[in-house]
Amino acid sequence: MIEGLFIALEGVDGAGTTTQTKRLAEGLRARGLPVHATREPSDGPIGMLLRQILTNRVVVPGIRGPRPPSWTTMALLFAADRLDHVEAEIQPNLLDGVTVLSDRYDHSSVAYQSITGGGEAETLAWVKQLNVHARRPDLTLVLDISPEEARRRRVERGRGREIYDDQELQEQLAAFYGDIEKHFPDDRIVHVDGEQSVEAVAKDVMREVRILRGEDPDG
Ligand code: TMP
Repeated sequence: MIEGLFIALEGVDGAGTTTQTKRLAEGLRARGLPVHATREPSDGPIGMLLRQILTNRVVVPGIRGPRPPSWTTMALLFAADRLDHVEAEIQPNLLDGVTVLSDRYDHSSVAYQSITGGGEAETLAWVKQLNVHARRPDLTLVLDISPEEARRRRVERGRGREIYDDQELQEQLAAFYGDIEKHFPDDRIVHVDGEQSVEAVAKDVMREVRILRGEDPDG
């Protein structure tokens, strides 16, 4: 049995990773490929806890009142969720020959946790170290979008406030994602213009996956 391909989609909040993961899954299934679409935080036990933290349903007692856990706790939880996700869901599917698409992966940890942790080189190195056993994706697609457009989309989406919903942070994240490949020199990372229409982004994403699969990209 040939292992399935593992593809991650990445970008700032509002970049369109969820929409494009869904579109790519539909597109590949239409071509007859078995696909499992998943996300991080995962739907496993640690991922569920992380979603409660992200929406302020779980807090820690701070000096000035309840607050989200520190970036160090978050980095550990995201890494634990990821390794559990790989072990329980990603790897078994890949071994069955299923292509796995993940809406976010460890690039999100390196971006969000190292920036919220102050952005120093040691911080980034520690977050990377926590994820050293996370299986590498065969392809990572980064959806590039300006912080202004991402903000417009988040407002339009109208979801409640999440703990990383801060425009200054989102601007730092957009800049970080712009050249994120420098932190993952051994990964295959491709940027896609995420400001285009959903249709146009989906086409570019599919093109990159076809190249990965050794197919005619325009076929
Ligand atoms: P989403 O479901 O809208 O993508 O929300 C997940 C949030 O969690 C998003 O703000 C990015 C953040 N996140 C991290 O900070 N670190 C991580 O490792 C992952 C996977 C997500």
